[in-house]
Amino acid sequence: MSEDILVVKPSLPPYEEYIEEIKDIWDTGIMTHTGPKHVELQAKLEKYLEVDHVELFANGHLAMELGLNAFGFKPGSEVITTPFTFASTTQAILRNGLVPVFCDIREDDFTIDVDKIEELINYRTVAILPVHVYGNICDVKKIQEIADKHGLKVLYDGAHAFAEKYDGVNVSNFGDMTMFSFHATKVFNTVEGGCLTFKDESYKQKLIGLRQFGQIIHTDSVPYIGTNAKLTEIHAAMGLCNLRHVDEYLEKRKEVVNCYRKMLSDTKGIRLSIIQENVSANYAYFPIVVEEAETGVTREMVEQALLKEGIFSRRYFYPLTCDFECCAASRVHIDVPVARHASERVLALPCYSDLKVSDVERICNVILNTVKKNG
Ligand SMILES: Cc1ncc(COP(=O)(O)O)c(C=O)c1O
Repeated sequence: MSEDILVVKPSLPPYEEYIEEIKDIWDTGIMTHTGPKHVELQAKLEKYLEVDHVELFANGHLAMELGLNAFGFKPGSEVITTPFTFASTTQAILRNGLVPVFCDIREDDFTIDVDKIEELINYRTVAILPVHVYGNICDVKKIQEIADKHGLKVLYDGAHAFAEKYDGVNVSNFGDMTMFSFHATKVFNTVEGGCLTFKDESYKQKLIGLRQFGQIIHTDSVPYIGTNAKLTEIHAAMGLCNLRHVDEYLEKRKEVVNCYRKMLSDTKGIRLSIIQENVSANYAYFPIVVEEAETGVTREMVEQALLKEGIFSRRYFYPLTCDFECCAASRVHIDVPVARHASERVLALPCYSDLKVSDVERICNVILNTVKKNG
């Protein structure tokens, strides 16, 4: 009997390395509040991500929510985004009292369709919040052109895009800010955690304040309504260990994804994401789109066939965030046929650094047999 295969699994450093890393926390007693590990991780990430400024947060969601907050938009202002994403992207907008305006996505890489952005802009529009879906990078040049023309801010949801480069430039440098998630299942993790990257230093003090109850640190002044979004030393320590190994994790993921591509390319009824030639990828996810019109085989049939063999997959992203009940009162514009098509057919296959190539072959064989048997 083969072992179950999970859809995601965290990349972990050697146990002894982590224990060694947290030892001095017992000596110093410093566990949070921008301690030495936080400061070290921040500096090392600025170097690794080749960006001027990194601020760390308790998770990627709070980083994004506070990043939007730092722009200081008037409540009720509109933010153009996509609904083919995780709940966090849309909820970061809603929790700021802003209105998400949903733009459709491109069929080939699932990122925002830049040709449909301008028709959604009006006098209430203040920002664009695009998502680098599965590590596919948005058309950052065109987005910046539109933002400059209309005086809009750009905050990228880069939860999936850690360590990637676009035309040789680290993606942390695009837009006004980029958020990365350091959740346990991401390419680089601090268990829970996240960051914002940016070039404009003027955001720094406000973000630090927002992360700690709106207070200007080391003063009695509390000018903002903030929250508690500090990254602890225990989490920062995991980040320091994982950062030493992240390039190995990326290499192993590359092997996994290359094996998937080799086995599933040109399979009738199974569409793969395009390879973006100008992007150095991080192989964060491996989504397939099950086009039942070609073979009669649906996503659910593939999902069930895998499950029967103890293999877990995930409808990621489903449903579209614009269909969430919590969006009903506030959403604007939901004519998103391409996103809807993708959401009803996409299946994310197991993808993590410790996934064995023999397991990838097992997964692909189940898919190929299902399509052939029924197609
Ligand atoms: C696209 C996207 N945005 C935002 C987030 C939120 O990140 P976090 O889980 O670190 O809060 C995630 C997390 O999975 C995500 O996939």
